[in-house]
Amino acid sequence: MIRVALIPGDGVGPEVLPVARRALEAAGAGAGVEYSFEELPWGADHFLATGETLPPEAEKRLKSEFDAILLGALGDPRVPGNEHARDILFGLRFGLDLYVNLRPVRLLHPDLCPLKPRPDGARRAIDLVVFRENTEGAYVNMGGNFKRGTPDEVAINEDLNTYKGVKRIVRTAFEYAVERGRPRVTMCDKANALAFAHGLWRRVFAEVAAEFPFLKTEVEYVDALAMKLVRHPEHYSVIVTSNLFGDILSDEASALVGGLGLVGSANLHPGRLGMFEPVHGSAPDIAGTGTANPMAAVLTAALLAEHTGAPAVAAVLEGAVAAALAEGVATPDAGGAGSTGEVGDWICRWIERSA
Ligand code: NAD
Ligand code: IPM
Ligand code: MN
Repeated sequence: MIRVALIPGDGVGPEVLPVARRALEAAGAGAGVEYSFEELPWGADHFLATGETLPPEAEKRLKSEFDAILLGALGDPRVPGNEHARDILFGLRFGLDLYVNLRPVRLLHPDLCPLKPRPDGARRAIDLVVFRENTEGAYVNMGGNFKRGTPDEVAINEDLNTYKGVKRIVRTAFEYAVERGRPRVTMCDKANALAFAHGLWRRVFAEVAAEFPFLKTEVEYVDALAMKLVRHPEHYSVIVTSNLFGDILSDEASALVGGLGLVGSANLHPGRLGMFEPVHGSAPDIAGTGTANPMAAVLTAALLAEHTGAPAVAAVLEGAVAAALAEGVATPDAGGAGSTGEVGDWICRWIERSA
């Protein structure tokens, strides 16, 4: 029995998460893996009603009662300061020390790629994984405002990078490349401008790369990489980078495979409780319209299955999404005319039939 804590959250989170849950239940039933779910109310509604963001005992409870967390999205226009989202999302990423943010970006149907055909006429074949450092960098919320609201205001957000923190994410990316037979690890930084912090990344990358001489390695500045990613995405296989660059590059990469509705993510610390969430946010612009793409949530459920010991369940979930796309069953963002519910039903029925 895999015990899943469900945090639907805000906006489209509660619209797509039920699809992920049903798909996981159905795929699990077919593979002899049982999933149990308990819903946790943390999000904007709960914050506005009670003033509570992440309860004080949350971390302890999650660690003792669950095997995985499945999160929808957090962010609500009624909370313009975003404090509940920060407390919950960062509270869990940092509190559980989930230093790996793994974001696989794969083109599941050729029509979803907005790029022209490759110069050699071959079909686009995008299949890369972003390893985003998830507990340091510009996200540590160190800094402050001095003389706030005056013409003399000073605003500081520190970018914190530690040898241990950089080394563990870089090493994880290399180990993943070896395990999955991936040919190349690219490190993305801005060492030409951020000489101290990203100088550390370069030194650590060289140190770890020396342990894996059979892998191709390269380092690229983030500006150039962001450009090359849209010119020749097939080149990239494993990209390891900082928290902020990983955030940005994963959204960019998702645009090459159909958009945010098609990319899931895993927040991991090997051997510990992981948290799984789509790369997309709460999408307030489409929330309540029934058009949110549930596929990112289903692919997120696949990551959950994979990292809780059921790769067969993961394969079925990915297969279901690919099958829907092959049949033209999709929401408008992915070129279809289906609603969240219609696409979700189709995916779940496909899973039940294939079980
Ligand atoms: P967003 O990812 O919510 O939306 C960006 C664009 O992509 C929007 O046009 C949206 O309609 C579209 N989109 C996103 N998910 C989609 C889906 N499943 N199907 C179809 N279209 C989809 O990013 P944003 O608008 O910058 O942020 C909105 C809120 O979400 C903010 O409060 C932000 O902080 C938060 N956010 C939360 C998370 C998270 O909880 N993991 C991630 C990103 C953003
Ligand atoms: C993501 C999101 C978050 C991040 C936001 C909501 C703070 O964009 O998970 O990619 O930047 O990590
Ligand atoms: Mn993001």
